[in-house]
Amino acid sequence: MNVVVMGAGLLGRPMAERLKATGRMVTVYNRTQAKVADLPKAGIAVAETPAEAVRAGACLILMLADARAIREALFAPAARQEIRGRTVIQMGTIGPQESREFQREVQAAGGDYLEAPVLGSITEVKEQRLSVMVGGTEAQFEQWAGLLKAFGPEPRLIGPVGSAAALKLALNQLIAAEIAAFSLSLGLVQREGIAVDTFMDILRQSALFASAFEKKLPRLLARDYANPNFSARHLLKDVDLFLKEAAAAGLNVGSLDGVRPLLNQTVERGLADADYSALFEAVNPPV
Ligand SMILES: NC(=O)c1ccc[n+]([C@@H]2O[C@H](COP(=O)([O-])OP(=O)(O)OC[C@H]3O[C@@H](n4cnc5c(N)ncnc54)[C@H](OP(=O)(O)O)[C@@H]3O)[C@@H](O)[C@H]2O)c1
Repeated sequence: MNVVVMGAGLLGRPMAERLKATGRMVTVYNRTQAKVADLPKAGIAVAETPAEAVRAGACLILMLADARAIREALFAPAARQEIRGRTVIQMGTIGPQESREFQREVQAAGGDYLEAPVLGSITEVKEQRLSVMVGGTEAQFEQWAGLLKAFGPEPRLIGPVGSAAALKLALNQLIAAEIAAFSLSLGLVQREGIAVDTFMDILRQSALFASAFEKKLPRLLARDYANPNFSARHLLKDVDLFLKEAAAAGLNVGSLDGVRPLLNQTVERGLADADYSALFEAVNPPV
């Protein structure tokens, strides 16, 4: 079976390469063609238009930036009319409402739709360690779990379409909260002239520790946010999606409301495509 990956960005590209490594025929579509010009050499076909991509396979994996990108690629008129008889597996991070709307539109176009957002990043894809959360029916899960195992050992069925999207947002809210909290504590430690090693030693031994702190510390100390795994732009998108869903669910979103302007300032500083830990620049600008 030929699998199509639409969106060969930071995560889509290594996902296409993983699928190829598992012996599948893979076709990729990327809006900016120059970024995928080298893929044919690796045995991955490149489609020039979304419609050509949709025609190329029975299964379409979407790893596009956001709902707008999905609308502009999959639902461009020429591509939409090719959906009939194909399955769309939406794996980017979008909101549950957005995902349910795409389900309706794919079904109306004669296709099948499930969602499978992921936790983890480039290293986890390469090592087949992504956490894959599936929103769909049991029958869809049975049918597609084998394919999804190319990305992670244990895809899980969360519930109907929308439920996995919501769970993914719940997890990404923690990414935003953790980096904001860690940046603030590290900033005070540095400004008070306390040894960072001492701070980290005590933190590591405590229940407060999160491995994300350790992972991001070298970037924060060097103020180096190049070669991102996950961009500030997409974390801001996810915070906005979470705020919308959580407020509609009647939750008090005050804590995350405080993080959002920090991410916005990070983007305004020209760091939208930098690693999301660049939020440190907004919390603790150089003096
Ligand atoms: N990176 C991670 O660690 C990670 C982890 C879990 C989930 N996610 C989620 O997965 C999705 C992809 O993430 P990523 O990091 O791979 O993002 P990325 O590097 O920014 O790639 C985004 C992809 O979407 C395409 N795109 C953007 N706007 C478009 C439009 N209007 N029309 C058509 N194509 C468009 C881009 O094409 P161009 O190349 O032409 O710009 C690119 O292929 C996002 O929803 C993200 O939140 C990412």
